[in-house]
Amino acid sequence: MLDKDKKVTGINRRSALKLAGGAAIAGLGVRAFPAPATAQGAPLRVGVMLPFTGTYGAIGKTIDNAFKQYVAEHGDKLGGRTLEFVQVDDQAEPAKGPDNMNKLVSRDNVDVVIGTVHSGVQMAMNKIARETGKLMIIPNAGANIATRAQCAPNIFRTSFSNWQPSYPLGKVLMDAGHKSAIILTWKYAAGEEHANAFKEGYTKLGGKIDAEFYVPFPEVEFQSYLTQIAEKKPSAVFTFIAGGGAVKLVKDYAAAGLKKSIPLYGSGFLTDGTLQAQGEAAEGLQTTLHYADDLDNPAEKAFRANYKKRYNADPDVYAVQGYDAAALLDVGLKAVKGDVNAKENLYKAMASAKLDSPRGPMTFSASHNPVQNIYLREVRKGKNVKIGIAAEALADPGTGCKMV
Ligand code: PHB
Repeated sequence: MLDKDKKVTGINRRSALKLAGGAAIAGLGVRAFPAPATAQGAPLRVGVMLPFTGTYGAIGKTIDNAFKQYVAEHGDKLGGRTLEFVQVDDQAEPAKGPDNMNKLVSRDNVDVVIGTVHSGVQMAMNKIARETGKLMIIPNAGANIATRAQCAPNIFRTSFSNWQPSYPLGKVLMDAGHKSAIILTWKYAAGEEHANAFKEGYTKLGGKIDAEFYVPFPEVEFQSYLTQIAEKKPSAVFTFIAGGGAVKLVKDYAAAGLKKSIPLYGSGFLTDGTLQAQGEAAEGLQTTLHYADDLDNPAEKAFRANYKKRYNADPDVYAVQGYDAAALLDVGLKAVKGDVNAKENLYKAMASAKLDSPRGPMTFSASHNPVQNIYLREVRKGKNVKIGIAAEALADPGTGCKMV
């Protein structure tokens, strides 16, 4: 694939020269062509495909904000190129995924796609990115397959695989003496993969799963499940619910009076970007994630202060992932002096990037998924405070990836 791409690059360079010549003689009545977007000096066309409405709407907005923060902090350029954004609201709607992605890739002819949040939408995007060879950076969706069997040289992720944050939580529950648990999650790829990762880490240490409840996405009617949890009395509950749904679940769980008797644990999406709306109901919840609100590193301090200044809000894990998507693209483009068609060297530089992320040190596995710390956090006074490291420099097992 890389060899084929190299050839395409050569052709594009030649046609770029021809086009420039065409423009020069436009005054003589010869038809002038617009400069192609890939020419040096022309803006890089960045397709942004995120949910901007619905239960994941705030997540999409935060990712977009932080991507633009990075660009602004770097002279409004990445790798020497100014940027032109084409934005699509994917509404976290898998059925619309192929059309939305095709629009960006084929009609708008973007140079790179940044997206998305929802694992089901991501799978549609992944298929098209693999078929077209378009560079794609995933700033959230954790669909395991994107960096396992469906990995590709042109697909990178700056967030996590769904396995990563939830696998270490099994040990956290066992260490806390919770020997049985109920799983409550959304019924779609991400919910199922988080549940499976938790189960893997938990049952191998002797934890027992009492029941599993799968709620259709994006429904937030949790009451009947909470009633069953109260009846079954497990030692703890594991959940993956995010965005607007997480606000509702945490409040409902506290209101049902379950919080003290049956502690609610989850991957950290349960309490990231949601704490202000959850208020007192979230206090004391423990979660695992690749970010926390009080990490002690200079990149985090600068990032947090600038985000607050720009957007008058505290950043969260989604902001970090969007910021790092821009940082990763910057590393790649710098290595090829902004020539997005120099794919082999672009991908090589991105794959070997060592990002000084606000989350702490971050590198990439052979399948282009982050290798990163997973922190154990506890909500204290409205913040996700780091109380330990649940797994250090954790890589996704990444089985089945063949870079062809
Ligand atoms: C996903 O669908 O992969 C997903 C969505 C929201 C999150 C995390 C994962 O917060």
